[in-house]
Amino acid sequence: MNHPTMQGTAPVNAPAWVKHPKLVSWVAEIAALTKPDNIYWCDGSQEEYDRLCEQMVAAGTMKRLNPAKRKNSFLALSDPSDVARVEDRTFICSEKQEDAGPTNNWTAPAEMRQTLNGLFEGCMRGRTLYVVPFSMGPLGSPIAHIGVELSDSPYVAVNMRIMTRMGKAVYEVLGSDGEFVPCVHTVGKPLAAGEKDVPWPCNPTKYIVHFPETREIWSFGSGYGGNALLGKKCFALRIASTMGRDEGWLAEHMLILGVTSPEGKKYHVAAAFPSACGKTNFAMLIPPKGFEGWKVTTIGDDIAWIKPGKDGRLYAINPEAGYFGVAPGTSEKTNFNAMATLKENVIFTNVALTDDGDVWWEGMTKEAPAHLVDWQGKDWTPETAKATGAKAAHPNARFTAPASQCPSIDENWDNPAGVPIDAFIFGGRRSTTVPLVTEARNWTEGVYMAATMGSETTAAAAGQQGVVRRDPFAMLPFCGYNMSDYFGHWLELGKKLEAAGAKLPKIYCVNWFRKDADGNFVWPGFGENMRVLSWMIDRVEGKGQGAEHVFGTTPRYEDINWNGVEFSPAQFEQVTSIDRDAWRKELALHDELFTQLKQHLPQALAETRAKLGKRLEG
Ligand code: OXD
Ligand code: MN
Repeated sequence: MNHPTMQGTAPVNAPAWVKHPKLVSWVAEIAALTKPDNIYWCDGSQEEYDRLCEQMVAAGTMKRLNPAKRKNSFLALSDPSDVARVEDRTFICSEKQEDAGPTNNWTAPAEMRQTLNGLFEGCMRGRTLYVVPFSMGPLGSPIAHIGVELSDSPYVAVNMRIMTRMGKAVYEVLGSDGEFVPCVHTVGKPLAAGEKDVPWPCNPTKYIVHFPETREIWSFGSGYGGNALLGKKCFALRIASTMGRDEGWLAEHMLILGVTSPEGKKYHVAAAFPSACGKTNFAMLIPPKGFEGWKVTTIGDDIAWIKPGKDGRLYAINPEAGYFGVAPGTSEKTNFNAMATLKENVIFTNVALTDDGDVWWEGMTKEAPAHLVDWQGKDWTPETAKATGAKAAHPNARFTAPASQCPSIDENWDNPAGVPIDAFIFGGRRSTTVPLVTEARNWTEGVYMAATMGSETTAAAAGQQGVVRRDPFAMLPFCGYNMSDYFGHWLELGKKLEAAGAKLPKIYCVNWFRKDADGNFVWPGFGENMRVLSWMIDRVEGKGQGAEHVFGTTPRYEDINWNGVEFSPAQFEQVTSIDRDAWRKELALHDELFTQLKQHLPQALAETRAKLGKRLEG
């Protein structure tokens, strides 16, 4: 950045275990710009985590929950204006605008650097700058990458310790000249001398900025989730997707799960769904009645880094080490494994507090407690909520929990080599039109399905909810480069693997969310999704049957195992039927998307669209 490199007022005091001169001088440079009162080098120890949490309890940022109910767990309530990712304030500042593409906000890098210089000047006054070293992926793995986040938020430091491999050991991997992605974060609320802090400092002005060419991240004004925990969306998706484009791999908004059949054969599936559409639930699925002997294991619940192996197969790792999951709707019934993961060592954000010092959110139990303190710190009762509609927990309330605590954790979740992928699933939240499951006839059709996926918007992002928007590959808010180039990258990778004689993973499009005329979900979802998963496994094995229709292959009623559940052929028809009129409208929306993305749009996708149109009218 174009600013003076003189020392800030706080001494840099790098510990002896940091042996990377470039890193130390970068910290000094950022400190000179942001002017914190102190610089603290995180070592990632339990003692440090406990100390920072205590400090935040004293500052009113977090409350310790009742240890008898939730051991070593905390509740943080954010500022009501800082509750979700801010997509309209997220920028991809590539040198050329066409490299960011029409779906990303873009500003010329020089102009953005000037803006950021102004905003970051003195932004950490009165605060401590935390140096947070982290590895995305197992420490030292050839697939992993390192980042260092400089943040003035202790909440970020402790969350990063759960969400990534954070601490001293990262410096051993970095050595004296290892590469790292520099991430600078501030809540954007400097304190004047003697000014009292607020529990959740933030700034109405927000900027979440990525410079893909120099692989830098700058985040201003928010302390919440993906805006602030920069290893997650900013690094592991936006920056990593550009790394993948340049280096021949994929960074995807996907869960990864293992399925083991009663015969002991294991398969791996990676599935992309937009935010708050059930990735965590699917990743932790418990097979229902009728699937005795089947086992589902969890590798990741949000992000997959996928690289071609020497054998031509695609291998996936979860770059994260924790879950930053949506709390509302999570219960023993919908996600038993998540609830078990949340028993201890958890940071909850924006859920409600019970009178006995535990947490609650909508959907956790059938009956709400008689009294709560809601996510805004106000008294809440079911009666008043009925009258006002006030939610006890914010719809985007979250838990931050260590992956290692998940009972369904896969034995290979931490394996640096990753797991081989047998199938990709793409799913949206659609009340109408899109059938329960469709298998693409080939890789190109699968890429087309994923590219044109639509979904109703959720509370994970600020903005209107429940409106259908195109969310290609569930990556609309997370692709760090031109979306059409990204489609091209997927097509190229498929071609390359096929040419090398590899068996490509099958590609499926799913929709758990079709509703009936009364607005009720028809498909029971959750554990019952195993029935769809097992049909896919049958197809991978070349055994499963189905009927081909205009868009691909869908199982017939008799192709699904219905043991242990009542689901009639008429209901099945409701979730699989294809309404030609609705699909004409759907294809018109695909056209709209392709018009928006026409610059660099691969010809193969336009051709696939033309063929589908012909089949629909044929
Ligand atoms: C997330 C999101 O936090 O997608 O995972 O918003
Ligand atoms: Mn996500």
